[in-house]
Amino acid sequence: MTISEMANQLVAAGKGIMAADRPSPAFQDLLRAEGITVDDEAYRNWAELLFLAPGLNESVSGIIITDEQVRLAGSGGDSLIEQVIERGMIPGISPFKGMVTLAGSAGETVGSGLDGLRERLAEYAELGVGFSKWRAAFQIGKGTPSYYAIEANAYVMAQVAALSQEAGIVPIVEPEVMLLGDHSIETCFAVTEWVLSRTFEALYLHRVDLESTLVKASMVLSGAECPQQADVDTVAEQTVKVFRRQIPAAIPGIVFLSGGQSDYHATARLNAMNANYELPWKLSFSYARALQREPMAIWNNRAENALAAQAALIHRAKMNGLASMGLWTEELEGEAVVS
Ligand code: 13P
Repeated sequence: MTISEMANQLVAAGKGIMAADRPSPAFQDLLRAEGITVDDEAYRNWAELLFLAPGLNESVSGIIITDEQVRLAGSGGDSLIEQVIERGMIPGISPFKGMVTLAGSAGETVGSGLDGLRERLAEYAELGVGFSKWRAAFQIGKGTPSYYAIEANAYVMAQVAALSQEAGIVPIVEPEVMLLGDHSIETCFAVTEWVLSRTFEALYLHRVDLESTLVKASMVLSGAECPQQADVDTVAEQTVKVFRRQIPAAIPGIVFLSGGQSDYHATARLNAMNANYELPWKLSFSYARALQREPMAIWNNRAENALAAQAALIHRAKMNGLASMGLWTEELEGEAVVS
């Protein structure tokens, strides 16, 4: 399979991506909120429960894991990554080594882990990894994001994308404009437009092949603490508008992060975009929290809850798979098989 075919397979009709890369601080917060200690064994059990959920591959095309999980064996001794591949899903890697503060900035960040990345990507490809994702996080605040942070992050994302393609791996470029803050949806729109425009300029300079690249984007939203919260249709309209302006039609698909939205909103807003607009790219999901929040609460690190947690995961994956085709309705939520 060529990497462009792989990119298209990741956004095949009715399918999206599950992000299961543990070190994300948001994900660790979620575990802690459920009172679950974030240790290796808990994580392995959780990963196995997620990856091996029967029928997951009907709505999930790929699963994002980290460097440490790439070589992790499940409880039966088989590598987790091989089990993902056997189930018809594509393993993806988040190869970054955490966020570091940009020198001279007011606390703005850039992902670290570029050293040795070419060699690591070659090794991941050998192990069967089909895609990578690299995140840049932009916090809207007083004077942020700055021109400096946007340029620095765009360059790093583009370098990783170019190196990924060199290794035969589909890059997912993830410029996240964060939900945190009291900003309006108009401010989020303006920042998203700026960030996307600089990101694509950098991808061009780094000779990244757009036909084999996916974008992991945030929706255009009112800040979490903004008193005026935009409704579902406005979010869909503004998000589609900014993408039409800044994301070339050559990109096969845009997959959203959930970014702290409720499960309901992550699904309803994705659905509204697909149901109401003619789009040049596939719009789907690459959720961590909006897929795993409820299953994790049910699981609570107890083996006896695993089946009910898997049922809840399959339900959310199915709902988002339908939303990626504009076929979700609120009534379908009532069919949850969670016991
Ligand atoms: P959320 O969907 O929780 O924002 O996470 C997305 C992500 O990129 C994790 O790797």
